[in-house]
Amino acid sequence: MLQGKKILVGITGSIAAYKTITLVRLLVKSGAEVRVVITPAAKDFVSPLTLSTLSRHEVEVDLFKDAAWSNHVMLGRWADVFLIAPLSCNTLAKMASGQCNNLLLATYLSATCPVWVAPAMDADMWTHPTTRHNLALLVSYGNRVVPAVAGELASGLVGEGRMAEPEDLHQMLVDHFSNNKSFSGKKVLVTAGPTYEPIDPVRFIGNHSSGKMGVALAQEIARRGAKVFLVAGPGVQGPTVEGLTITHVNTAAEMYQACLDNFPHMDLAIMAAAVADYTAVQVADEKIKKKEAGLTIELQKTKDILKELGRLKTNKQFLVGFALETNNEETFAKEKLRAKNADMIVLNSLKHAGAGFGHNTNQVTIFDKDGQQVSYPLKSKEAVAADIIDYIHEKIK
Ligand code: CTP
Repeated sequence: MLQGKKILVGITGSIAAYKTITLVRLLVKSGAEVRVVITPAAKDFVSPLTLSTLSRHEVEVDLFKDAAWSNHVMLGRWADVFLIAPLSCNTLAKMASGQCNNLLLATYLSATCPVWVAPAMDADMWTHPTTRHNLALLVSYGNRVVPAVAGELASGLVGEGRMAEPEDLHQMLVDHFSNNKSFSGKKVLVTAGPTYEPIDPVRFIGNHSSGKMGVALAQEIARRGAKVFLVAGPGVQGPTVEGLTITHVNTAAEMYQACLDNFPHMDLAIMAAAVADYTAVQVADEKIKKKEAGLTIELQKTKDILKELGRLKTNKQFLVGFALETNNEETFAKEKLRAKNADMIVLNSLKHAGAGFGHNTNQVTIFDKDGQQVSYPLKSKEAVAADIIDYIHEKIK
């Protein structure tokens, strides 16, 4: 199930640490290679000897051992996933503020793999605004939070704050890795970012899109085995993932052309770009000089890429559009679904704090042409990408 997967387990000072012993055992039994890093406080809750025996590796705890430096960079680069379970309130706060006074924190800060955290704390601590704020920060940095569940707590109180059960954490890791190749053999076109419509050699009309959502989608679907053609607007950082090729464009017309050239060979197209709706009729050859009078720039409509792909789409192709709205969200999203002949529209409303342009988080509702509608909570853009791709997978399989 997890054969050959490299899983780094982090343990912090919480009574729930005893459950992580079971998790380590389950992971090793499933074929994973497991290494364990713990905070000094965790030693009061679980024995390194137990963990090193189960994981078959020495347990890492000290930043400096016998006057030698412990290589935290190596640990975070070695792992396919770093799961911190349990995550105490104290370590959560340190992670949220970038503190680095032990090996686990140094490993977190230098990890290049996905980081998951499974918090465990008393119910009142779990609901405290500081904890909510710190968790939201971790999510906004792209980490995945496995929420605490309700039940009996160490304090004797009953409420939310129990760490997710080891069997559930194990299953989540199995799902994470087994999903991997569900888009194998598929070709996918993704657009991301803004377009810039020039006015003169130094100025343009643009928008605030960062391209993060489109990039997260392209990355996730490539990770699941698809061959991905990402058409990225200006300023979008192209990810380096196996199976992903990137074409950089500036204007809506260039994006249109790149999409039209590729679309006939695609199984799926996801139009996440914030394409300019208007472009200047005349682009001045020289910089426009300031005058006493105001300036009027005549604009004309750009071609609607999604609408054109909707017109060309065959019944073997699946087309996904986005809708970014500030009002009448549902009505506009459904109207776009129909007018552009898409199979699915992902709506994000600028009314939701933490959603939309520039944020690392997003909150979306999906509308599909079968009349189904699903709303998701605020998540990292990576987690939103995984939700969207899971949804598409259900539709096309
Ligand atoms: N889109 C496109 N080509 C355009 C404009 C938009 O492909 N010239 C796509 C976007 O990538 C997105 C969807 O259409 O998937 C909806 O974009 P949005 O800007 O929300 O809607 P518009 O159709 O431009 O309508 P309006 O701006 O009036 O809401």
